[in-house]
Parts: sequence; C-alpha cells; structure tokens
Amino acid sequence: MASRMPLRSLSRATQLFNVRPWTCSNCRVGSARPLPLRRGVATTPTTNTPKKPYYVTSPIFYVNAAPHVGHLYTMVMADILKRWQVLLGDNDAQLLTGTDEHGMKIQRAALEAGMDTQAFCDMNCRTFESLAKAANLSHDHFIRTTDPEHREAVQYFWEMLKHRGYIYTSKHEGWYSVSDETFYPQTQVQNSLDPSTGRKRMVSIETGKEVEWSSEINYHFRLSAFKDRLLELYQRSDSFITPSTYATELIQSVSSGLQDLSISRPAERLTWGIPVPGDDTQTIYVWLDALVNYLTRAGYPFPPGQEKTSIWPANVHVVGKDIVRFHCVYWPAFLMALDLPLPRNVLVHGHWTMNREKMSKSTGNVVNPFFAIDRFGVDGMRFFLAYQGGLANDADYDNSFITRDYKKWLQGGIGNLASRTIGVAKGQLGSYIQAATSNKLPAPSPADVEHQIMLVQAPPRVAEQMTGLNPRAALQEIMSIIEKTNKYFHAAEPWKTPDHRWVLYNVAESLRISAILLQPFMPGKSQELLEMLRVDTSNPSKRSFAAAVYGSDQDYGQNVQKGYLFLPLLTED
Ligand code: ME8
Ligand code: MG
Repeated sequence: MASRMPLRSLSRATQLFNVRPWTCSNCRVGSARPLPLRRGVATTPTTNTPKKPYYVTSPIFYVNAAPHVGHLYTMVMADILKRWQVLLGDNDAQLLTGTDEHGMKIQRAALEAGMDTQAFCDMNCRTFESLAKAANLSHDHFIRTTDPEHREAVQYFWEMLKHRGYIYTSKHEGWYSVSDETFYPQTQVQNSLDPSTGRKRMVSIETGKEVEWSSEINYHFRLSAFKDRLLELYQRSDSFITPSTYATELIQSVSSGLQDLSISRPAERLTWGIPVPGDDTQTIYVWLDALVNYLTRAGYPFPPGQEKTSIWPANVHVVGKDIVRFHCVYWPAFLMALDLPLPRNVLVHGHWTMNREKMSKSTGNVVNPFFAIDRFGVDGMRFFLAYQGGLANDADYDNSFITRDYKKWLQGGIGNLASRTIGVAKGQLGSYIQAATSNKLPAPSPADVEHQIMLVQAPPRVAEQMTGLNPRAALQEIMSIIEKTNKYFHAAEPWKTPDHRWVLYNVAESLRISAILLQPFMPGKSQELLEMLRVDTSNPSKRSFAAAVYGSDQDYGQNVQKGYLFLPLLTED
C-alpha cells in the first residue's frame, strides 16, 4: 500500500470507490409534497415523476392487549428502512403503521374486559400510538381497521374478487385458533394438556395455541389457483422474501399443496368486523380485512387513471416470522387475483424470546416497551434492538445484554471517542479540519492513510447492507468504524504526540461520518453528536448520505465543547 496519500488523492479514491449515492432527482429537499387525493391518502408528487416514493409498512397490531418489546422492534426496523431512504434523499418516503381491530380475538378480549368493543379498541389503540411516539417513529400515518375509508376499501376489494369469480360458498369444517385467527388442517394440530388446569384440549403444533372445532357454511377464496404463480414468485431472482431461509420453508409448504381459503365467518359467531357486501349474515375474515390496510393507505380503490400516482406497490412489508404465510401466500394471491402490483419485498424477522420462549401478548411473558425506553433511552433501545435483533434467527432478551451493549458501544465507544477527541484537540479541532481539507498538513503516516481508506470504503458497505434489507448488518458496519477508530486513536496516542493533527482530523471524520450514517438508527443521539461536532445540521446537504464522504465537509468543528452524549445508566442488573 502507498505509505503516503495526501488528501487530494484521497478524494480521487472516493470517486474511485464510487461512494456517491443515488439521489432521486425529484425527491430533493423542497420538492413538491404529495397532493392528497383525499384525506389521509398518500400519492406520488404529480410533477414528472420517474420514481414513486419508497413505501414501507409495519404489521398492524392486534389491540387485544398492550404492546411489548416485540412490537417495538418491528416498528423500529420499519422506521430505520424509511429513514434510510430519507437519508438517501427520498423526502417523500412513507412509513405506515397502525392497529388491527376486528375479529374474534378482539371481540373476546373486549368481552373479557367487560368493555364496549369500540371503546376497548380506542383505548388499546392509543397505547400503540403512544408507543410509536415514544419510539420516535417517523410514520406518516397511523391506520386503524375501524377507519371508515378502510371499511370501504375492504368491501370494494371483496366485490372485485367476487366479480372476477374467485369467491364461492361452501361448507367449511376445521380447527380454528382464535388467538392466531386462522384455520389449521388436521395434520397441524395435536392433543395437549393445559398445565394450569389439567384440561385436555387441541392445540396448533406450530404456535401451541388452543384450537376449536368449527363447522359452518362460509365464503371461500380460490387460493389453490395461485400455486404455480406463488412458487414462481418465491424463486424470483430479486428475492420477494428476505432472508431467503423463509422462502425455502414456503416453497416446501406451498408445493406440498395449497387449499382454498375460508374468508368469512357467520355473523352469529363473529359480529365485530366488516360485513360481506350484500350478505349481512357473514363477516369478512379478519386477515383479508387486515392485509388490505396497506392498500387503503395508498388510496385504494384507485380512482380511474390514478393507479399510477399511488405510492402502491409497497417497497417492503416488515413482518415477524409468525405472519409469513399471510403476507407471502394469501396477500400476493389476493393481489394477483385482482391484477394489482405485488409488494416488492417482504422483510421477515425472528422473534424476541424470554428464556427462549416467544415474547407474546397472549402468553403474558412480555417486557413493557415504555419502561425499557424510560430506562435505556429511546436511542439506547433502538440501538440494542437493531444491533441484536435477529432476522433469520430469534434473539433472547435480557436487561443485562442492553446494559452491556450500552456501555460498550454507546458510552464507551461513540461517547468516549467524541469527548476524548474534543478534549485532546484543546479547542483546535476546527483549525485542524480547515488545515486538513485545504491540504495544509504534512503527509499523513501509513496508519493515518490506512484509516482514511477504511473511512472511504465503509459508507458504501453500509449502503449495500441497507439495499439488501439488512439493517443489523449495516449497523454492525457502522460500529466497526467506531471500533477501528478507537483502536487507531489509542495506538496513535495523540495526547502524547506533538503533531496530532491528522489523527484528530481522521477521528473527527470517523465520528462525523458515523453520526450521519447512524441517523436512521438513533435519530436523537446522532443529531446530538453532529451538533456536538458543530456540523451545520440546519443544512440538509451536510447530513445526508452524500455527505458521508471523507473530506467533504470543511466547515465543522469550530468552537466544539466537550459534552456527555450517553449518560451512565442509573440502575444495573
Ligand atoms: O399478527 N418478537 O398482530 P400481532 C418480535 N394483526 N416481534 C414480535 C414478537 C416477538 N416476540 N411478538 C410480536 C398480527 N411481534 C396481525 C398482523 S398485518 C396485516 C396484521 C411483532 O399483534 C411481529 O412483527 O399479533 C409480529 O409479526 C407482529 O408483532 C404480530 O403482531
Ligand atoms: Mg400475534
């Protein structure tokens, strides 16, 4: 490797590594905001638009009980994906979250709570909304399946399925789990003893939830007609499902057979839902109702000629592995039936477990996400969940893990590096930055050059992981910048060296670039860090992905003050 590399050739290296990000030409700051078709509907800007805004969704959560850390995790993952697009320059990127309020599960939960069902939904919905707020979610809309425009969208969707001949009536017999809101075939249930009561019952093998026998006449959807097209979808080269392990499982289960799907329940059993158009004796199946929410937000039913201005199709639906079948089998089949565009991707994540058992509202082994946010800070939690949460695998939750990561990466990593750099520079950081960026420093040492090259290469690697829908791997790349910078700083011992200008400049650049890249993950703390470094955060071009380029900002670092980014945690486990 060349032992000396002045800054000028480094910016050539920057070009060489092609770190300039893609920026949507009509998504720059100040571009026209979407013109709403009707209240609460998102559309693309109507100016000549080559590209629709990025559209990401979380699942809509059942309001049967209060949210837990698992729900927080999904919300945060979806938010990171949206904020990443904003960082790239898509200021119209959209994030949708909300609540799923119909069905037997909610009807029963309200009954048990002794409350009016709508009042029960209103109360629990507010808790999910508060969680989105506490998590600093940048959602553009919070949808409820009890919203009138959603009801319209679902009924229209049903009529279209019927019009195209995909709905028929027949007798349905099978095992239904109210907790999972799904039918299971005989092969997927087993006998089990309820440990608390000793009562014999049937449960789903997959989820362990109780099932009850049901025999009724209801409406069916011709799901079996879509087997081949679904299998093609799973094998698509640009992978519909991420990570691919879930696709492998689906290919297996769909190829072994696909039965038609029951899509309504008799109203005498289920009243809390959307009635089947033209047949009040039947209520629409809660999953058909729920999945349509992603379209409702996009303005469905699309006014004629306006399909093209909608934000549909979604770029990515973020879901937990428990609801893969609904999002990757039923949902694309419904859309195929209506010739509607399919979502581009479904990002599936694993579960948070407590002592290796799935954290679950209905089981009750949950962590209150509001308490966790209070204790570790919203960005402390966002960091931990994104850094340790699994996509292909589950992750076990324990407060001691959060404390450990907080101390190692946030307090001891980023926080310590920032305050030591500012301290060692003794008020001169701004002038070092000026000198380095105007080529007024002597040649850097080999160790300096090595660090500079790492800094040039890191942002595109982070971007590559985000493009591959792997926020965790992206965050690991960012934290590896911090780790390498710490080593570089300590090996260089700038507090002892008479000329420490390159080292302090390179460490400042490491912090500035990391702070820019961390914005989707820790929006609050990364802003604080940028402000601490006196980066002009009021200027969007100084904090966008395009600014995460070594040597690209000459103006920061003036009059920096030492501060504490991450306070010590008050209690320890
Ligand atoms: O399934 N770990 O709602 P839901 C990680 N209403 N994520 C978890 C989790 C855990 N232990 N527990 C729950 C529904 N989640 C339907 C969705 S979408 C059209 C309708 C997250 O309240 C994860 O995203 O049961 C999971 O898929 C979702 O919450 C299920 O939430
Ligand atoms: Mg669930």
